[in-house]
Amino acid sequence: MSDTAGTGALPVQGIPAARVLDEIRALRAADRPTHGGRLFAYVYDPGVAGLDELAQAAYAESAHVNGLDPTAFPSLLAMENALVGAAAKLLGGGPGTSAPDVVGSVTGGGTESLLLAVKAARDARPDLAEPRIVVPASGHAAFAKAAHYLRVTLDPVPVDPVTLRPAVAAMAAAIRPETVLVVASAPSYAHGVVDPVAEIAAVAADAGVRCHVDACFGGWALPWLRRLGAPVPPFDFAVPGVTSISVDLHKYAYAPKGVSVLLHRDPASRAPQYFAYADWPGYTMVNPVIASTRSGGPIAAAYATLRHLGEDGYLRLAASTRDAVAGLAAAVRATDGLRLMAEPESTVVCFTADDPELDLFVLVDELTARGWHTQPQLRYADLPASVHLTVTAAVAPRVAEFSPALADAVAAARAAGPVVLPPELVALAGGFAPEALTPELVAGLAEGLGLDGGVPDRMAVVNTLLDAAPAAVRERLLAEFVGLLQRPAW
Ligand SMILES: Cc1ncc(COP(=O)(O)O)c(C=O)c1O
Repeated sequence: MSDTAGTGALPVQGIPAARVLDEIRALRAADRPTHGGRLFAYVYDPGVAGLDELAQAAYAESAHVNGLDPTAFPSLLAMENALVGAAAKLLGGGPGTSAPDVVGSVTGGGTESLLLAVKAARDARPDLAEPRIVVPASGHAAFAKAAHYLRVTLDPVPVDPVTLRPAVAAMAAAIRPETVLVVASAPSYAHGVVDPVAEIAAVAADAGVRCHVDACFGGWALPWLRRLGAPVPPFDFAVPGVTSISVDLHKYAYAPKGVSVLLHRDPASRAPQYFAYADWPGYTMVNPVIASTRSGGPIAAAYATLRHLGEDGYLRLAASTRDAVAGLAAAVRATDGLRLMAEPESTVVCFTADDPELDLFVLVDELTARGWHTQPQLRYADLPASVHLTVTAAVAPRVAEFSPALADAVAAARAAGPVVLPPELVALAGGFAPEALTPELVAGLAEGLGLDGGVPDRMAVVNTLLDAAPAAVRERLLAEFVGLLQRPAW
């Protein structure tokens, strides 16, 4: 950025378009690589030539269209209905199925879909003063966020440390008269295992409670894997008792970010999801989703992506992904000291270390140093810390390079040895009351850990510190830290 333009977004004098784009490209250089199959979280890359250009052109076509009023912009309504229809059909709904009346909405992402599933369930029971939801402990954090935003009590059900699934009997036992929703994941994000959906939906139905299947992650992958012969258990509307399903198109449908679909088995189930308000002097607001003004860009881009790839395209991409998962899992199995948390049954490879001399967080740093970006997961309840790999089709051509890189990174991590935190830091992490973590204290800690200039490449010490801390302390530390990052640029 030039000095005259400053680092804020609004220079005194506007600057030429080409230079603005150069500035954005220069900023982007610091980002992790969104393409190329070496980033195993956050992004979903099919590695299909020309697809980005198509999605960008479609996005541009509809970027200024407003989803606020479907009667003003029928193009958006048509594309939204087409996306919902495609998702419903893929997930066991529509004409000729046991869920012929399925309906849905396009939301801005998985978290929004889950918030709305909880809102619909809550508002379907206005008689309950203190509604509750039953969620496996492996359920996505967005359910905790929904519970928090919507003042619903979260009843987490522990998962078995071996199967990484909740026991059906424990799910049943957690259902109370105030329960408005029971959740199952297909699959869970952290470990990629599919919950026993049919059994969970059955106990929910017996209790007369809605059952939401969070297929945000796997809803656009599992059906293709099943068609390719994988033993995917029933998880969609074919399962009696499943009342709603979420599937993110910005994950395995490979659409640009900002698109998820929330499906309900019938219009009556969806009705309490809507918000309508006429008691003001402006237009009557009718919002199926959380946002009111909505850009048509993400919807058009998703529509173009689905139309272009088609069923044959998704089947091909699923086959590549399946092969990549198998290759990565084999590399992990072949490595002394590493253990798969679960045999892969979807598109996640998750492993832990069972050798105290091999520090997982050091390993993650060593992989990063070699250009492989994995996601560390901190220990939780009786589950050890682990490393998560979201695998997409673009990983397939890279698998052969991953095995030697993993071996090399493991050797380097062993040579470096485990992180040893100073005892006072361990005491700090374990002993703090979250409310004692003042902004000043966290700023001092961040400086001491070298985090004051952003996030360094080597994060093992920070991860070890967080790993030693209880959840409430982790939350507080990281919220304060993100607050430190989010400062206006002048
Ligand atoms: C199972 C599951 N549910 C919900 C979400 C939340 O989706 P988003 O990040 O689009 O809000 C994710 C994201 O990874 C997920 O894996």
